[in-house]
Amino acid sequence: MNQTILVTGGAGFIGCNFVRDCLRNEVGSVVNLDKLTYAGNLANLADLADDPRHVFVRGDVCDSALVDSLLRKHRPDAVVHFAAESHVDRSIHGPENFIQTNVVGTFRLLESVRGYWSALPAAQRSRFRFLHVSTDEVYGSLAPDDPAFTEATPYAPSSPYSASKAASDHLVRAYQHTYGLPVLTTNCSNNYGPHQFPEKLIPLMVLNALDAMPLPVYGDGRQVRDWLYVGDHCEAIRRVLAGGRIGETYNIGGGAERANIEVVRTICGLLDELRPRPSKYASLIAFVEDRPGHDRRYAMDASKIERELGWRPHETFESGLRKTVAWYAANPDWARSVTSGEYRSWVERNYAARGSA
Ligand code: NAD
Ligand code: TYD
Repeated sequence: MNQTILVTGGAGFIGCNFVRDCLRNEVGSVVNLDKLTYAGNLANLADLADDPRHVFVRGDVCDSALVDSLLRKHRPDAVVHFAAESHVDRSIHGPENFIQTNVVGTFRLLESVRGYWSALPAAQRSRFRFLHVSTDEVYGSLAPDDPAFTEATPYAPSSPYSASKAASDHLVRAYQHTYGLPVLTTNCSNNYGPHQFPEKLIPLMVLNALDAMPLPVYGDGRQVRDWLYVGDHCEAIRRVLAGGRIGETYNIGGGAERANIEVVRTICGLLDELRPRPSKYASLIAFVEDRPGHDRRYAMDASKIERELGWRPHETFESGLRKTVAWYAANPDWARSVTSGEYRSWVERNYAARGSA
């Protein structure tokens, strides 16, 4: 294949793994547009600095003039849209950026792409795809015995983050319905793996544990998430891009539901093995005040993507977590380089005022 893909948010966690995955699988070249917010870091792309197939552009998806000029200059065959504010706790402390990037940013990007796509020659126009990367959180929260979310589950987002992603999903589908823009949407469960910013559960717990700091488990720790290794998510996106049906949504999940406390205990067990210390890492676990409006359970039914596109995850939760913990333990410089003063002030805002649960 010799495609040009415009990736937004490719200096963030999933985006940087996707860019690498594309180049490894020789899809062609990647233009990577990223604003480099606190969550986007060039350290995530350091190994690609000399790769001529990767062009990095620092900029905002809300900047229509910039996006228009990139589309004109690089003439991509596809746009894969990752750029977003992505952390639920930050959306609780300050929702405004979420509306700006996730809703307004997606809208502006769609407008630019619509203008570009409608002027393409017929052959390129029919090949073009816009793939929107979204989350299982748009479906809301499940009770313990509810069936997993399917693509037909009605939207019921409950945090400012998930509400902003739901809004963007609706806009993307409206552009297909109204203007015929060839869009695809993927809704994926919780990812984990290398290069995830340490505000999220798994890297936070690994890095705190390595620093012998408390492991802050919200509420009773019985909330359930479905975990997917990031490399499996990237492969799913490539499959949907190559063979997904226009206008369709594909749920992606790891089939690995785990309660948070179980995840944290498993991380502690792996560290006891990899980096033994006098007392067990689990002794650092501290139950803290719950997240407001905390969704109890997410679970994904990924049978559609398996049936239609033959995708299923390669990693089990245990194999993926072992790789991930080993990566964080082996890359302390990466963690130091992405956790600036902004991160320290976030930790203060989010954790200092939380009492114990
Ligand atoms: P992330 O926070 O690690 O990275 C987001 C990236 O977007 C950063 O590099 C940031 O600089 C960039 N960005 C933010 N605002 C921007 C803007 N206005 N213009 C250009 N770039 C901007 O997020 P992630 O975990 O890699 O998630 C990527 C996408 O996948 C998001 O859309 C998220 O909703 C979705 N998603 C994430 C998960 C997960 O578990 N992490 C699961 C399902 C879906
Ligand atoms: P997170 O990684 O923020 O992802 P999301 O909220 O999008 O699912 O959190 C995963 C789960 O872990 C969620 O139920 C909240 C919980 N959690 C904690 O218990 N402690 C923490 O310090 C963090 C960041 C999350």
